[in-house]
Amino acid sequence: MKNLLLAAVAAGCMTPAEAQDAREVRLPAPDMSRGTTVMQALAGRVSTRECSPEALSLADLSDVLWAANGVNRPEEGRRTAPSALNRQDIDVYLFTAEGVYLYVPSRHSLRLVVDGDRREVLAGPPSPARAQDFVKAFPAVLLFVSDLSRFEMEGERVRLMAAMDAGIVSQNVSLFCSSVGLCTVPRASMDEAAVRALLGLSVHEVPLLNNPVGYPRK
Ligand SMILES: Cc1cc2nc3c(=O)[nH]c(=O)nc-3n(C[C@H](O)[C@H](O)[C@H](O)COP(=O)(O)O)c2cc1C
Repeated sequence: MKNLLLAAVAAGCMTPAEAQDAREVRLPAPDMSRGTTVMQALAGRVSTRECSPEALSLADLSDVLWAANGVNRPEEGRRTAPSALNRQDIDVYLFTAEGVYLYVPSRHSLRLVVDGDRREVLAGPPSPARAQDFVKAFPAVLLFVSDLSRFEMEGERVRLMAAMDAGIVSQNVSLFCSSVGLCTVPRASMDEAAVRALLGLSVHEVPLLNNPVGYPRK
């Protein structure tokens, strides 16, 4: 939290007084001018499971979160990612070495949920192969959680819509990363029980996918 707040103060998003004891980090406005063409982003999209350990800059965090599921039509509160019935059921959590944050699209900010490095829960249930441990080396991991209660109906179709909504948010991240030269991979792997316990999720909230994000290894 401390480094993110310091970065927010350095970027002029918060005053030092606001940053004192704050549990919310205001992000800089997303940069709408960066990136390649959509066709180049599609041509370059690839799953990458290794990256540099360097922490993401506040500007890159801001842009990737906005690309994932930010508000792109403020007058209506609508998002970069479509959602079934516009229920906006996907919440984005950010895991870093410092803590876990909830992205608040309406304020383009990060709210601290849990202090400390909790990326371990995203590696998956413990297994001898530990094949998914690579996720812990990514400086940022975006987790997509659907709140099924926002559909105000139940059944298998609702769960499918939630999964589709998460897939779209994940693809926004993949295309953004391809467009600006960041590394990512969509992942369904995680220790769901541990994620639920850590974030205090209700029975209606389902962690579905995550995208680790980092800079290419030099
Ligand atoms: C829904 C979904 C779940 C995935 N889960 C994982 C995962 O848990 N771990 C992983 O390493 N890759 C995961 N992947 C990445 C795929 O393995 C990868 O997309 C596939 O091998 C094709 O490679 P490409 O993305 O480079 O085209 C997942 C992809 C999708 C679409």
